[in-house]
Amino acid sequence: MTFYFLTLFPDMIRAYFAESLMKRACESGAVDARVIDIRDFAENKHNRVDDYPYGGGAGMVMAAPPVLRAVRSIAGVEAMPVINTSPAGRPFTQKEAKALAREESVVFLCGHYEGIDQRAIDAVVTRSYSIGDYVLTGGELAALVMADAAARHLPGVLGNSESLAEESFENDLLEYPQYTRPETVEGVHVPPVLLSGNHAEIKAWRHRESLRLTEEKRPDLYEKYLQNQKR
Ligand code: ADE
Repeated sequence: MTFYFLTLFPDMIRAYFAESLMKRACESGAVDARVIDIRDFAENKHNRVDDYPYGGGAGMVMAAPPVLRAVRSIAGVEAMPVINTSPAGRPFTQKEAKALAREESVVFLCGHYEGIDQRAIDAVVTRSYSIGDYVLTGGELAALVMADAAARHLPGVLGNSESLAEESFENDLLEYPQYTRPETVEGVHVPPVLLSGNHAEIKAWRHRESLRLTEEKRPDLYEKYLQNQKR
């Protein structure tokens, strides 16, 4: 899967793909992360890509022409989803992450300053996503969150495929708690069932813990789970 990141801060993106699982995903060929610096598409001698907002107000707006040129520099972009990162976008969920992973190529347009000239958005953006109800200083973190959440659904990116099936949000439940050695930490023991070797009991305990945690921490998800069980 190819991710294109259109950004004013290319090193923020490169840093993420230089570590850990995403580095391995790039090395194995499962992921191709291409970073495009919007500033390279400025056509003035100071490489300016932002300007004052018409109508006044605080902050600067990313100008349309460099953004449009940057997007259109991608061969075949007409057939790709072009995603704008914005707190005003549709909430990005696990379902969207899985759907994104089925795309061959995805373009992320990372906004900065007070936003992007609406004419550039209208001309090239196919959807806008928000990663939560808070405002970031820029779209890079949001684009990386989405790319990461999608990439881990690609074959070979995670070490073992079971970690996908049992994790949080599958079946609308949060994941059960995990423990590893040592058996006792500051006087607190591992739940004995996990040492029992009885796989049926372990599975049942984990499911009960998932239910308990979801009801306690995410009553909205728990309600959804109960509704789905009734169907
Ligand atoms: N840019 C700034 N805040 C954002 C958010 N919450 N989601 C996506 N992009 C953003």
